[in-house]
Amino acid sequence: MSLFSTLGVYFFLFSHQALTNTMSDEIDVVVFLPKNDTYLFSYARVAPAIRYAQLKLKTAGAPYSDFHFNIHFENSNCVNDALFHLVDRACVKKPDLILGPVCEYEAAAVVRLASHWNIPVISAGALAAGFSNKNTEFSHLTRIAPSYVKMAETFSAIFKHFSWKTAFLIYEDDKEERNCYFTVEGIYHLMTDLTIKTYPFSHDDPLDTDDIIQSIYDTQVVILCMEARKIREIMLAAHRRRLTNGTHMFFNIELFNASSYGNGSWRRGDKFDNEARQAYAYLNTVTLLRTVKPEFENFSMEIKTASESMGLNNCQDCGSVNMFVEGFHDALLLYAVALKEAMKSGYNKKNGSEITSKMWNRTFEGIAGQVSMDVNGDRNGDFSLMAMTDVNAGTYEVVANYFGVNGSFQPLSAFKYDHFTLQGIQRTHAEISDASCGLGVSALTGVIVGAVLGTAMLTAFYFFRKNYRITIERRAHSEESTSRKHRQLREDSIRSNLSTA
Ligand SMILES: *[C@@H]1O[C@H](CO)[C@@H](O)[C@H](O)[C@H]1NC(C)=O
Ligand SMILES: *[C@@H]1O[C@H](CO)[C@@H](O)[C@H](O)[C@H]1NC(C)=O
Ligand SMILES: *[C@@H]1O[C@H](CO)[C@@H](O)[C@H](O)[C@H]1NC(C)=O
Ligand SMILES: *[C@@H]1O[C@H](CO)[C@@H](O)[C@H](O)[C@H]1NC(C)=O
Ligand SMILES: *[C@@H]1O[C@H](CO)[C@@H](O)[C@H](O)[C@H]1NC(C)=O
Ligand SMILES: *[C@@H]1O[C@H](CO)[C@@H](O)[C@H](O)[C@H]1NC(C)=O
Ligand SMILES: *[C@@H]1O[C@H](CO)[C@@H](O)[C@H](O)[C@H]1NC(C)=O
Ligand SMILES: *[C@@H]1O[C@H](CO)[C@@H](O)[C@H](O)[C@H]1NC(C)=O
Repeated sequence: MSLFSTLGVYFFLFSHQALTNTMSDEIDVVVFLPKNDTYLFSYARVAPAIRYAQLKLKTAGAPYSDFHFNIHFENSNCVNDALFHLVDRACVKKPDLILGPVCEYEAAAVVRLASHWNIPVISAGALAAGFSNKNTEFSHLTRIAPSYVKMAETFSAIFKHFSWKTAFLIYEDDKEERNCYFTVEGIYHLMTDLTIKTYPFSHDDPLDTDDIIQSIYDTQVVILCMEARKIREIMLAAHRRRLTNGTHMFFNIELFNASSYGNGSWRRGDKFDNEARQAYAYLNTVTLLRTVKPEFENFSMEIKTASESMGLNNCQDCGSVNMFVEGFHDALLLYAVALKEAMKSGYNKKNGSEITSKMWNRTFEGIAGQVSMDVNGDRNGDFSLMAMTDVNAGTYEVVANYFGVNGSFQPLSAFKYDHFTLQGIQRTHAEISDASCGLGVSALTGVIVGAVLGTAMLTAFYFFRKNYRITIERRAHSEESTSRKHRQLREDSIRSNLSTA
């Protein structure tokens, strides 16, 4: 009988232990992804990657296999859905971890709330420069994909390498998600020693290539961010005006959509294909450096199959796993590593700030290779520079890589110095940059307005979205008719707002 009671006690202790263990290792994860498949980070694309990581952790052995992730997927629509879902859910129970959202404005609201609630957020988005400030409202944000400022480091390295001094940023601004706007903002934010001119244009307006070409003459480097069709229009116009003769460098930035750059990106099947191919000989592309290792092949195949079974098909990029997919996979691994460490030091899953700090300043093995997080919780980025290496065939190759972890710019064997050497303009650039200074400053209004918005008004933005859009448009309209002096004054006040922000 005593044997039985002893056993009973043991059994009780054991099951109690097991119970508390599973209780404490039960981790509630909320993932915000859009159901809409036009986004490269849609649910059907990314969810299988998160499931893959979950399965991998389960089979990895203790202590990861003891973590039970309850993963809830919620819709995000790049406006307010994610925020509302989070608030509704938190009425019942706050999650332990949030993955996403990707879209800048939506992420801002969610991260702000999560930081206040001490919940870690990991996103493969939220790439705008404003999120780099982790001191206050974005304190719990870890960015698992390289931000736009990290991308800008690549340009910074290339500019240094070739002593270029002036840049002209031409970008499309949809005033909604504003991806290109935030992309070029990264360059503006980082490269403060350059003379930069900007040229935003609205998504819906017809492209005024004459106006653009006029502004290109006095700059060395032209950086484009816009949809592929418009890039082609500008390159064709530049080619016709003979700007593609070595006096100017042209770049476009396309980080995520692999089907819109590289081989054949000039081809549209119209009568201008031949001309476009020649023009694109001067268009270089900055994109993310993609690495592969054996496991990645398996990962890609599994994700592709799973995505297709979730209804994702008829898309150009189905075959390729993009950075969002890869990032969200690695996000779960990173969290597990950090949580394990935090628990070892006696903290529990509820200590969001402790877990967040364990995710920063570390390197770990992701699905596609090493992932290195900087001390600010932002991933160090590796980027590739692509250029057309065979003009007759119109094919592209990666000609150089930039490694964010050590800041090194490494030209590869396909790299041709001549291709990147500016003709003529070098000697006269000092006067030119002086002359364009005033213009450059006035053209920066858009970036500055957005930077202020980006840090201070992100939440308010969407509540008042309609109003804002009209205001901006009115402002842009009236600005054309105001005198130069007024414009200067207004910029000064915006500028000082920015510096105190
Ligand atoms: C998906 O998003 C695109 C772009 O924002 C939009 O045009 C389209 O209407 C959306 N589709 C659905 C089904 O909501
Ligand atoms: C390139 O074209 C520009 C504009 O037509 C011209 O001013 C310049 O002299 C040309 N440079 C070379 C190296 O051909
Ligand atoms: C990617 O690029 C292709 C080719 O330019 C385009 O058709 C497609 O709509 C783009 N996808 C997204 C999600 O932007
Ligand atoms: C990927 O690896 C797993 C486990 O090693 C295996 O079961 C699966 O069949 C592989 N998938 C593919 C598409 O090769
Ligand atoms: C969380 O961890 C920090 C140390 O990083 C500690 O100062 C704080 O008291 C902990 N908070 C809770 C609620 O345990
Ligand atoms: C980051 O990690 C390195 C070594 O891993 C350490 O020497 C350094 O002090 C850490 N930096 C911060 C700010 O924690
Ligand atoms: C483009 O095509 C060429 C020739 O077919 C090939 O060598 C090269 O790898 C391709 N580039 C890319 C980026 O796929
Ligand atoms: C920088 O890091 C990359 C990738 O880790 C490595 O291949 C390269 O050799 C490093 N370069 C220098 C100069 O340390």
